[in-house]
Amino acid sequence: MFTLAHLSDPHLGPLPQVRWRELASKRALGYANWRRGRGAKLGPSSLVALVGDLRESDPHHIAVTGDLINIGLPAEVEAAREWLEAIGTDRDVTVVPGNHDAYLPGSIRRYSEAWAPYMRGDEGDGGTFPFVRRRGPLALVGVSSAVATAPLMATGRIRPAQSEALAETLHQLGREDLFRVVLIHHPPVKGSTPWHKRLVGASGFRAAVADAGAELVLHGHNHVTSVATIPGPSGAVPVVGATSASLHPHPGRPGGSYLLYRIGRRNGGFETEMIERGARRAGGPVETLSVRRLDG
Ligand SMILES: [Fe+2]
Ligand SMILES: [Fe+2]
Repeated sequence: MFTLAHLSDPHLGPLPQVRWRELASKRALGYANWRRGRGAKLGPSSLVALVGDLRESDPHHIAVTGDLINIGLPAEVEAAREWLEAIGTDRDVTVVPGNHDAYLPGSIRRYSEAWAPYMRGDEGDGGTFPFVRRRGPLALVGVSSAVATAPLMATGRIRPAQSEALAETLHQLGREDLFRVVLIHHPPVKGSTPWHKRLVGASGFRAAVADAGAELVLHGHNHVTSVATIPGPSGAVPVVGATSASLHPHPGRPGGSYLLYRIGRRNGGFETEMIERGARRAGGPVETLSVRRLDG
């Protein structure tokens, strides 16, 4: 059984009062301490609680599907690097960028440098998408839909060259009998976003998956937890959106959550159970919100 955690859209503030790196060095003291005490200074308390719970659930790997920051400032990019280091090593955490990460001209260059260890394949220096990381029975395929956009737009784009490379990569990984997890910030499901937040080139992405197949597609961007499917060559491919991990719960609106996928082999294929963890009320404990099977 392989456990993959999925967290998205933390939208970290630019200048944490206490550095996230300090948090990492305090691991030995236990997360309960920083959740009760300093946690309040380490970003939104709901995010701190979620990250603590995620660490305690001890996943084999963690996927972060973009919008780590808000407006692409250098200080934000640096703070996000510290936050990543607090979550886990670059071997255990994989990141793809979102539209807020690419907010300003120059932002892409900045995060491409600062987050490179978390955003590159097992081979190569990074900066190219799609990239591939093999972890146990999984192949994580990182796709970038992040582009700088005009004000008030939150679109993403995947160009034909990246979609074609994705198809080729997925074909190859399929021959290796790996559980292929594609990471992309923007949802590739038709009609799943308002026009100004859509993924331009989504049909090319869907064509790649329809042709080559994938076992799971993970995204963020919409700030709601969602499960949908897109066609694959031999049945539907689950597409899961994670909400913003930093949302505070309010009456009538759920707060932030993260997802755990427990992936095992069965009858020559795979089976996946998805567990959503979050707080039901402001200040409440992080608990299991839902459990469901994702197969087919
Ligand atoms: Fe977002
Ligand atoms: Fe986004």
